[in-house]
Amino acid sequence: MNILILGSGGRESAFAWKIAQSAKCQKLFIAPGNAGTGQYGTNVNLKVTDFAGIKTFVLNNDINLVLVGPEEPLVKGVHDFFLNDEQLKSIPVVGPQQEAAQLEGSKDFSKQFMERHNIPTAAYKTFTKDTLQNGLAYLATAGLPIVLKADGLAAGKGVLICTTLEEARQELTEMLAEAKFGDASSSVVIEQFLQGIELSVFVMTDGKNYKILPEAKDYKRIGEGDTGLNTGGMGSVSPVPFADAAYMKKVEERVIIPTIEGLKKDNIPYKGFIFIGLMNSDGEPWVIEYNCRMGDPETESVMPRIQSDFVDLLLGVAEGNLDQKELIISDKTAATVVMVAGGYPGEYLKNKVITGTENIHESIVFHAGTSIDGENIISTGGRILAITTLQDTMFAALQQATADASRIYYDGMYFRRDIGFDLL
Ligand code: AMP
Ligand code: GLY
Repeated sequence: MNILILGSGGRESAFAWKIAQSAKCQKLFIAPGNAGTGQYGTNVNLKVTDFAGIKTFVLNNDINLVLVGPEEPLVKGVHDFFLNDEQLKSIPVVGPQQEAAQLEGSKDFSKQFMERHNIPTAAYKTFTKDTLQNGLAYLATAGLPIVLKADGLAAGKGVLICTTLEEARQELTEMLAEAKFGDASSSVVIEQFLQGIELSVFVMTDGKNYKILPEAKDYKRIGEGDTGLNTGGMGSVSPVPFADAAYMKKVEERVIIPTIEGLKKDNIPYKGFIFIGLMNSDGEPWVIEYNCRMGDPETESVMPRIQSDFVDLLLGVAEGNLDQKELIISDKTAATVVMVAGGYPGEYLKNKVITGTENIHESIVFHAGTSIDGENIISTGGRILAITTLQDTMFAALQQATADASRIYYDGMYFRRDIGFDLL
């Protein structure tokens, strides 16, 4: 079969790497892809939100399945676009429809969903411009620190953790009255701060059946020792030692099953991945957020641990028989170190020539923000490469990924040397 992946990051590189290994995949296309995805398939110069362009491409190239990487096309309704089109409706899309994508696209929608289905999450209230005064009054009664979340997608910037009441009042006012995050902050969720360690849990579902993929820990801060600004993610590790069988049983019983059952009760179809961002507080799982897609850079650590045919699992999602598919997971450790541009996550350097990737033999070099310029690979994004290795022990994996990252060079090169060492 012929498969089209939408996206261009490290996540889509990891999908492409895994799918290219399947005997079930004849032709693989990645739109738009990057300088690395061309190793696994054919890059297609199309934007992920160019639905008309995607339609033409899918029909002209006999695409049999579309895998959507990022949230934006899902929240904008790419799956619905296929279902509502006579020529496209029989071509499966892996990734939820617009209604379900609100689990990520609207914090208020996801909090209401969790409340309705008794899924453990922080206490919250939602306010709009019209209820700003009530919001300010609520802040005065809530404890500190307090978390403010723009309701809509805000490119990962819409969550503010405020440590003083003054800061919280100021931010709430800017978000609601001054549209700090544009439309995304026309509603704001105020929620209780949860203390603990974060964990990324991934579920694949056809809407009835589900499979739990390997969990991962993501490192969001730019600086070593989890300091400095938030980023898209500086590294990941899978498995995560504290997420042992007993812990994952709690997650399955209290979060995963109620989520799948909740979607069914609400009559919300869901075919795709559910990324559950959890806070582990003293051994108890609390949901921080849902995402309607896989995580990046978690996918880079998750895919190498999946030993089964990933295309077969995607077909299970598409055809509604995921329960009949096999998911075998390696017990080795995958570690991913993300290499970023100088200046990232602020204004960052671009168009730098990347050298040394040919010297890497024990890790997979997943490309993210890269493109080809004549003979050279150059950087185009903030997150440039994700270096992933799979090893027998966690220590070996962390050491190998870090050592291999240091074999690559470009002007302004930066990566964290401490990814995963807190877990040892
Ligand atoms: P989100 O966009 O919901 O993933 O939030 C971004 C980050 O903010 C999360 O990964 C957490 O690190 C942090 N965060 C969000 N909600 C909370 C909360 N209720 N308590 C503590 N930290 C939070
Ligand atoms: N790594 C976090 C995310 O993909 O949102």
